[in-house]
Amino acid sequence: MSIVEELIEQLREIQREGEAAVAAAGGAQELEALRVEYVGRKGGRLTAVLRRLGELGQDERPAVGAEANRVKDALSALLDQREAGFAVARSGPRVDLTLPGRERWKGGLHPVTQVVEEICDIFRDLGFTRVAGPEVETVEYNFSKLNTPLDHPAADMHDTFYLDDGIVLRTHTSPVQAHVMEQFQPPVRVVVPGAVYRRDPFDASHAPAFEQLEGLAVDEGITFADFKATITAFIHRFFGGAVPVRFRPSFFPFTEPSAEVDVRCQICGGGGCAACKHTGWMEIMGSGMVHPNVFANCGYDPEKYTGYAFGMGPGRIAMQRYGVTDIRLLYEGDMRFLGQFS
Ligand code: PHE
Repeated sequence: MSIVEELIEQLREIQREGEAAVAAAGGAQELEALRVEYVGRKGGRLTAVLRRLGELGQDERPAVGAEANRVKDALSALLDQREAGFAVARSGPRVDLTLPGRERWKGGLHPVTQVVEEICDIFRDLGFTRVAGPEVETVEYNFSKLNTPLDHPAADMHDTFYLDDGIVLRTHTSPVQAHVMEQFQPPVRVVVPGAVYRRDPFDASHAPAFEQLEGLAVDEGITFADFKATITAFIHRFFGGAVPVRFRPSFFPFTEPSAEVDVRCQICGGGGCAACKHTGWMEIMGSGMVHPNVFANCGYDPEKYTGYAFGMGPGRIAMQRYGVTDIRLLYEGDMRFLGQFS
C-alpha cells in the first residue's frame, strides 16, 4: 500500500469513527470535546494526518489534502448540526428575558378589616373583650329591646331588610348589646365588630351592607366622663397624637343623653373639603349613656348600673385614614384598589 493510499484510508477511518462518536454524543460539552479531538487545529486527529503530507511528493499532496478537507467539512457539519439541536433543547420555549416580571399574587387583609383589628387591639388594652353576634335578628332585638318603637323611622320598611315576619337583617350592631347583657352580669366591657344592612342606595357615601363596631361598658358608677376619657384615649391612639375631638348632642332611642363624636377631618386638616362636607369635622360614631329602659329590657337593674355605648363605622374611619372619597371602593372588591393595602 502506498503512503497516499494509507493516508486516505486513515482519513476515512477518522470519518467513520468521528461520525459514530458525534452521533452518540450526549451533550454540548461532549460535542465540543469531539470537535477538539477530530478537527481541532492543534493536536486534532485530522491535523496529525496532514502533518505527514511532507512525506509525499508534490504531485501526491493534492489528493490527500482534498480528502482531508472533505472529511473535515463532513465532520464539522455534523458537529454543527448536533450542537444546534442541543442549543434548542437547552433554551426550551422562546422566552423574552428582558420583559419585566409579573408580580406574584399576595393575599392580605381588607383595609376595613385592618382597621377593625386595630380598633379591637386598642380597646383590648383598655379592658374590652371582643365578641360577635348574629347578622339575622328579630325585630325584638334589633328594635324593641333597644327602646326603639316600631313606628320609629329606623324600623321603617323602607330602611330595613325584612326577611320574614319579625325577622330582619340587623340594621346596626346594637342588638348585640342586649345579647351580651342577657348572658353576662356587670361589669361588662365589650366591642362588637360586624356587618350591618340597610336599604340604602349604593353610592359614594352609602352602602347597603357595611361594617360597624359596637362598644358597651356597664358597671356601677360609670359616668359620661368615663366615656369621654375612653373614647378620647382611643381616638388619640388610633389617629396618632392629640387630634381634636368633639362630642355633639344627638338622639338615639337607646341612649340618654346621646352624642355624636367628631374628629378633626384627617383629609383636609380642618380647613374644609368635600369629604367632611366643608365642616372640618368627620363624624365617626353615635354614642351615649345606655338608656335605663334598655337595662330593664335586658335584665339589668337600672337603679344600680350605668354605662355607655357607642357604634362606629370602621369603613368611614378607613376612608378618613387613607383619604378615600368613595365608599364603593371599599366594598366592590376591585383588586387594583384593594391591592394597595396588602
Ligand atoms: N346603633 C347606632 C347607629 O347605627 C349607633 C349607636 C350605637 C348609637 C350605640 C348609640 C349607641 O346609628
